Amino acid sequence: MSGEFPMSWKAVPLVSPSGPSPARCPAHAGQDDAERAEAGEGPAPGGHLEELRREPLGLLRRSAKESAHRLARLDTGPGACLVVSDPDAVDVVLTDHDAAFFKPKMERWKQVLGENVLTSEGPAWARSRRRSMRITGARYVRRAARVVAEVTDERLRSWAGTGAVGVDGAADSPRSPCIPGSHDIPDIHEEMRTLTLAAVLRHLCGTDDDFDLRAFGRHLRTVMECIHALESAPAGAEPSARVERAFAHAAGELRAAVLRLVASHAGGDDLVGLLTAPPDTASDDGRAAEPLTPDQVCDEVLAHLIAGHESTATALAWSLLLLSRDADVTRRVRTEIGTTVGGRAPGPADLAGMPLLQAVFTEALRLCPPAWTIMRATGRPCELSGVRLPAGAVLLASPYSIQRSGRWFPRPDEFLPDRWLGDAAAGAPRYAYFPFGGGRRSCPGRMLAQVTAGVVLTRVLQGFRIEPVGEPPTADVGIILRPSPGTRLRAVPLRRESAGQREESP
Ligand code: HEM
Repeated sequence: MSGEFPMSWKAVPLVSPSGPSPARCPAHAGQDDAERAEAGEGPAPGGHLEELRREPLGLLRRSAKESAHRLARLDTGPGACLVVSDPDAVDVVLTDHDAAFFKPKMERWKQVLGENVLTSEGPAWARSRRRSMRITGARYVRRAARVVAEVTDERLRSWAGTGAVGVDGAADSPRSPCIPGSHDIPDIHEEMRTLTLAAVLRHLCGTDDDFDLRAFGRHLRTVMECIHALESAPAGAEPSARVERAFAHAAGELRAAVLRLVASHAGGDDLVGLLTAPPDTASDDGRAAEPLTPDQVCDEVLAHLIAGHESTATALAWSLLLLSRDADVTRRVRTEIGTTVGGRAPGPADLAGMPLLQAVFTEALRLCPPAWTIMRATGRPCELSGVRLPAGAVLLASPYSIQRSGRWFPRPDEFLPDRWLGDAAAGAPRYAYFPFGGGRRSCPGRMLAQVTAGVVLTRVLQGFRIEPVGEPPTADVGIILRPSPGTRLRAVPLRRESAGQREESP
């Protein structure tokens, strides 16, 4: 699904806004809606369902514009579904001091991932979350920076080599016809995905040897597409046998790959080591905690592998695409890199001294947040923004639409990393920008993602000039917001000079 994805900088639209369909705007949830919502009633099924499937970004943006301070009710069939566009209301939902909201629609994910930090609630989630926080903490992030640099350098050698660029790792990626030595990366998202998956495997599981990165990526894509298709189907629609079969097969392959990985784990100070070590804490009822079964270890590892690489890869792909179309920002970032680390790989402390590089990533996450919408449901009747909601009401908080609001971010569709260098965003409410979610279920991997992105972008810009290829990119809106399949990028090796002066290609 693509559709509306307005983006412009220097007056050049990345995607010409096709504009939302003329369907009517989501109603403001006023008292009438509150009553209908309370009764659990909906209008005639499907009012916004088709638009939500076809043009979700346009619909969410319109809701944010027209219902900035209120909830917008979507006509999606039986049951209440509301868009939350007021950052203060998002704060209430995500911070959730009263434990009124939970993560809905986890059943399909549980079939793939079992019970873990992503899919659980309650004490099981809390235990899992503690492990997650440990493995994404500062000590591990320092080590991750070294691993990411190592993996990136291996990958980039193929960019600079004999044409072996791209998802396949095959030596058949097209050389640019115009620029000697340059290479077209056939799918920048897949390229980044291969890179971040290899890095996360080495970091969390000790190795990516004998792991079929491409097959894992393919099966994960199938699982995500099936879940998206199944969950955006009209209520009561029977899933097709073909989708069910594809889902079951891909889910089985993902689990089998991780079970093999865990079985051959050599031991070490990583996630698998942490999960397979004898438990050192008492369980919630005071008895000695039981060791995890191989299936439970698999659940946790799989959840971290998926959460740990997919969003980071997507954010990196967007960052590179945005940079490829802004020569001035790219030149300034390269100069910053040259001044700070010269030609070597950065560590977390170096990255803290590169504000423009960080601003590029922050701005890419503002314009193109991989988690473009965060969903919650009410566990019991409650009130939000003056609207009484029944138990089971679905709430959509969209980083995409809120972060593109002109109220908080002037020229909202433009790529302007400099806005993060001054205090331009200082007056915005806390949840005007929330690409990593918020509250108790906020992303534990935020620091890891930022360091990974900093290292990859640094190494790419130290070695290559990146150029756009073809039409401006469009977005593929599924479970995550990614560049459409086949979005290309050109990498032109820079001359082997000292970093910071490597401006020109041969
Ligand atoms: C740019 C990269 C990333 C983005 C944009 C991102 C975004 C998010 C968001 C928005 C959530 C909250 C979802 C919700 O509330 O429903 C989340 C949760 C999570 N993320 Fe990330 N993430 C990124 C990278 C990572 C990395 C590197 C890890 C590494 C392990 C990770 C692990 C997790 C986990 C385990 C959760 C579930 C937390 C919980 O439910 O308690 N993420 N992420």
